[in-house]
Amino acid sequence: MSHNSFGHLFRVTTWGESHGPAIGCVVDGTPPGTVLSEPMIQRFLDERRPGQSRYTTQRQEPDAVRILSGTMPGERDGELVATGTPIALEIQNVDQRSKDYGDIARRYRPGHADITYDMKYGVRDHRGGGRSSARETATRVAAGAIARQIVPGLVVRGALVQIGDVAIERSRFDWAETRNNPFFCPDAETAERWAELLDSVRKRGSSIGAVVEVVAEGVPVGLGAPLYGKLDADIAAGLMSINAVKGVEIGDGFLSATLSGEENADEIRMGDDGTPLFLTNHAGGILGGIATGQPVVSRFAVKPTSSILTPRRSVDADGQEVDVMTKGRHDPCVGIRAVPIGEAMVACAIADHYLRHRGQTGRS
Ligand SMILES: Cc1cc2nc3c(=O)[nH]c(=O)nc-3n(C[C@H](O)[C@H](O)[C@H](O)COP(=O)(O)O)c2cc1C
Repeated sequence: MSHNSFGHLFRVTTWGESHGPAIGCVVDGTPPGTVLSEPMIQRFLDERRPGQSRYTTQRQEPDAVRILSGTMPGERDGELVATGTPIALEIQNVDQRSKDYGDIARRYRPGHADITYDMKYGVRDHRGGGRSSARETATRVAAGAIARQIVPGLVVRGALVQIGDVAIERSRFDWAETRNNPFFCPDAETAERWAELLDSVRKRGSSIGAVVEVVAEGVPVGLGAPLYGKLDADIAAGLMSINAVKGVEIGDGFLSATLSGEENADEIRMGDDGTPLFLTNHAGGILGGIATGQPVVSRFAVKPTSSILTPRRSVDADGQEVDVMTKGRHDPCVGIRAVPIGEAMVACAIADHYLRHRGQTGRS
């Protein structure tokens, strides 16, 4: 089962599965001298960690990261400096309950990857979904923390902007608010509505989809490349690779189809500092695959969790028709914990393009 790597010059290879002893990744390409520390990476893992509110799965994984290679002690206490060699990161799996998954050893959960893994490989670790489990995404978040250190001035932030058909009110968007509620919601009033909505979804043993928005600021002008090296294509690929993601937009995305050319044009003037100034950002900070210097705006749709308590029709590995109901602990809305994962994938794509840009132009 190959294809476990993402990126070119900043290249992340992840390993491990839900119910093995540990998961981890190897981050290759971190420039020598980059300053890191375990607490700096841990901070982002803590945002994705399960069991932090009643709206996420009650699995208790501390997700404590350990750096195994690629660094040496820095000048300050606890500080590490990248040597430029591969950085291996490890996270122990501690809260597995493999018996929860006995029922699906031979039955395929509708909406999950069980059936395609079996049809393709003929072998499948059903415990917790094995490699198809979103447990793997913890390692991406760790890699994303390193990526953020590579691009000077880069700030990547994510927010949940819609659950089911309840979207935030744009005029109330406040990044600070994303830290005040369990949904990464930038709008306090909508967060209250979501709490009610999710309580009812949870009580029914059902699940619900969501939309996540990720905004990267401080992306240097010129990052990206035409055609097959488009920055937006690589961001989209990174986001689409996250479990349960079914749609990605850059800038106005699908809304662009409804705009006229006049409305969609991001007009340009000369700014006071003598550089071009874009008056709007329908393009989401990327033109021709190349960063304009504006915020890079992406959005992705996450489908409802397939683990639900209502039986659904399916088949088993012997070709028998069966009903499947998924027991065990699950997130009623996986979009919530997808927020830090989306941030990480955007940060990794930008760090990769930062190094590629430097390689091709000699400039940062
Ligand atoms: C943070 C996160 C947690 C997830 N937890 C679950 C879960 O508990 N149960 C489940 O059925 N799917 C869960 N998923 C989604 C599955 O991993 C995903 O649907 C499955 O691998 C099939 O892949 P696909 O949906 O991308 O086609 C989760 C996804 C994310 C992003």
